[in-house]
Amino acid sequence: MKFFVTGGAGFIGSAFVRMLLDSSTSWSGAAAQRPSLVVNFDKLTYAGNLENLAPVATDARYRFVHGDICDAALVNQTIAEAQPDVIVNFAAESHVDRSILSPAPVFETNLRGTFTLLEAARTHQTPRFLHVSTDEVYGSIPAPQDADENYPLRASSPYSASKAGSDLLALSYFVTYGMPVMVTRASNNYGPYQFPEKLIPLMISNAIEDKPLPIYGDGMQVRDWLYVDDHCRAILSVIERGRAGEIYNIGGSRALPNLEVVECILDTLGKPRSLMQTVKDRPGHDRRYALSTEKLLRETGWRAQMPFEAGLRATIDWYRGNAAWIARVKSGEYQNYYQRNYANRAT
Ligand code: NAD
Ligand code: DAU
Repeated sequence: MKFFVTGGAGFIGSAFVRMLLDSSTSWSGAAAQRPSLVVNFDKLTYAGNLENLAPVATDARYRFVHGDICDAALVNQTIAEAQPDVIVNFAAESHVDRSILSPAPVFETNLRGTFTLLEAARTHQTPRFLHVSTDEVYGSIPAPQDADENYPLRASSPYSASKAGSDLLALSYFVTYGMPVMVTRASNNYGPYQFPEKLIPLMISNAIEDKPLPIYGDGMQVRDWLYVDDHCRAILSVIERGRAGEIYNIGGSRALPNLEVVECILDTLGKPRSLMQTVKDRPGHDRRYALSTEKLLRETGWRAQMPFEAGLRATIDWYRGNAAWIARVKSGEYQNYYQRNYANRAT
């Protein structure tokens, strides 16, 4: 099976590429489903990092193409050459805070880029197209509800609106052109190699450096935490057993308030709670995400395997052991972003 993966140099995409090429990955389908080619098509934005792919860089089945999913000519040329059996679209501007500071890039990549890929898949009649999306498209879910795949779309941020738009676009290609498109909507991922702009890696790396840990508002917002490898296994399950034209929620079934997550990080690192610093809340901040993953479980048999406490420990250990990686990604552009997002936010 030949894979065309976009955004494979980012956090989740790189975990997926590593998993595809890892000989210990189990495949439920025929042996023919094992990848013979994995093309990683990535623009290498601030979030893309080829270091994340060091374990597979010399694998003969792996090919990197430096490109923008909005570049129709390059996308078409690469797909024409590779003739993939499946396109998995991870490429996105993925951070809510950045989309609030500068909304334009999310619409360019997340909408126009997805459109460009869908058109290329239509031209080349790619047999499967999996669009990777997010639970944020449902907006804040009042307790005690869990959102299933039919829950109304109520995107709150430019990021989530762009993802909701790209989901609808992808699904329209199934309805209109009969293209075998599937959409997955996952909850908050965590694990190694995550860019330290997101809650867990930001709090771990700041705590390691004894820097303040910025808590938005009262810190009681709830997120459902999913270990990145569990997410990647779920995507494989959907590719192998999902139905075209369908949406599949992927959740970790571990909903926790942010404060509890941050306290757990501080305790594991042996750092004082006084490092936490309340700052002005994120505009339009969704209070609670909670997903029903019943459909995914029923149709594919997937189950999350990593308990949150063990996953968080493994993640903390990874960041402790990869100080040079953190130092490199926190230099340069990251400092400007940090200043823009966190300056003048004291309460
Ligand atoms: P990330 O920001 O870590 O990585 C994004 C990758 O996409 C980077 O390698 C970047 O270089 C690449 N990219 C960005 N714009 C591109 C373009 N125009 N053309 C080609 N490549 C481009 O993101 P992530 O956290 O790994 O998220 C991956 C996907 O999963 C996204 O679609 C995101 O919406 C979705 N998702 C993320 C989470 C999460 O918790 N991180 C949860 C659910 C869904
Ligand atoms: O739910 C899935 C989504 O999860 C993905 O679609 C997004 O790509 C991903 O970025 C993530 O979005 P969130 O906005 O939920 O994640 P983030 O890590 O930015 O924030 C998690 C929670 O932590 C949220 O309630 C905001 C809060 N937070 C975040 C940061 C960066 C803080 O309190 N302080 C911070 O400094």
